[in-house]
Amino acid sequence: MNLNLTEEQLAVRDAARDFAQNVLKPGVIERDRDQRFPADEIRQLGELGFMGMMVDPQYGGSGMDTVSYVLAMEEISKVDASASVCMSVNNSLVCYGLQEYGTEEQKQKFLVPLASGQKIGAFCLSEPEAGSDATSQRTTAIDMGDHYLLNGTKNWITNGNSASTYLVIAQTDAEKGHRGINALIVERDMPGFQIGAKEDKLGIRGSDTHTLMFQDVKVPKANRIGEDGFGFKFAMKTLSGGRIGIAAQALGIASGAMELSLAYSKERKAFGKEIHKHQAIAFKLADMATQIEAARLLCLKAAAIKDAGENYDLASSMAKLYASEVAMKQTVEAVQIHGGYGYVKEYHVERLMRDAKITQIYEGTSEVQKIVISRAVLTD
Ligand code: CAA
Repeated sequence: MNLNLTEEQLAVRDAARDFAQNVLKPGVIERDRDQRFPADEIRQLGELGFMGMMVDPQYGGSGMDTVSYVLAMEEISKVDASASVCMSVNNSLVCYGLQEYGTEEQKQKFLVPLASGQKIGAFCLSEPEAGSDATSQRTTAIDMGDHYLLNGTKNWITNGNSASTYLVIAQTDAEKGHRGINALIVERDMPGFQIGAKEDKLGIRGSDTHTLMFQDVKVPKANRIGEDGFGFKFAMKTLSGGRIGIAAQALGIASGAMELSLAYSKERKAFGKEIHKHQAIAFKLADMATQIEAARLLCLKAAAIKDAGENYDLASSMAKLYASEVAMKQTVEAVQIHGGYGYVKEYHVERLMRDAKITQIYEGTSEVQKIVISRAVLTD
């Protein structure tokens, strides 16, 4: 197994790091406090090619590999997990879904502006009563011949109010169960589509998370992705890649907390010496470094498997499960290393600790990842 990164991958990582440190970091505390979406920063990320990283250049993307995407996600997430979730949903769920399963017409019309960063996309699966149990869709898409009539409510939708293009999963034929579900492309200005309340969240407060309502929205048949009834598999396949993005986000949150902890432990003195010279702190840093490296290897392995064109469902769930647990555990340790300073906003680690929690919840809770992993290992 070759663990060396190419010159190109290193250049992508360095560009993402520069952007995160120089553009995202200066306003991140205020955006978190005010729950302000980083609109201008996301526009700049789009201009740099980070919003459609793995999309073919003929559709407005950067044509990079998944390993580069993981490296960029880690760097952006070290500083601003609100910006990185927007980036991840746009890249992994929306652009990937359209590139892989969209028609040529759908790619020209919807993928090009999304991959080139002119527009933002959202992925709408979760409902008030269908989170982990994704087959229980209550939103309906009734077949009316040349169009679907869409009715229902989606919630927890990332990019809810900043998106222009929404991939909506809905039930067309309840009797067919998951085989009766479709994925539809809904445009923001379609009559009957309403953007509802914004969530006031614990973490990723700069990302805009909304409830969406659909009342008799007419969605042309041409906006269905794949064959009739492909919607659930579309969602599962897309989320499998999405989990690599969120695993890399969790990795970045953890490694961002570690970088801050290392720097602080070299500056802060207690009992006559820098605190990293106390074994209590040095051992925490050793555990942090080891677990973060293990999470990074799982992320890169999942990305490499995807780039090789092999099945990455198991690898992406393992990466997400482990990286999100490391993010949660090690951001708590980072706050502990910082002591009282860790508990105030100026030092960044309390935000990373709040942001870490969502990585154990969205794009499949840790328990969902364990369902995927246990099924795979029990089948082998
Ligand atoms: N690829 C292709 N097909 C798949 C698949 C995959 N990865 N996973 C499942 N399927 C297929 C199965 O083969 C099966 O099809 P057949 O009957 O034809 O064989 C069908 O889908 C149903 O599969 P299961 O029986 O395994 O379904 P299940 O009801 O047991 O659910 C689950 C499995 C893993 C729990 C799934 O429901 C799941 O992943 N739930 C979590 C959903 C989720 O991640 N939600 C997050 C919302 S999006 C989000 O958070 C984005 C954001 O804003 C940040």
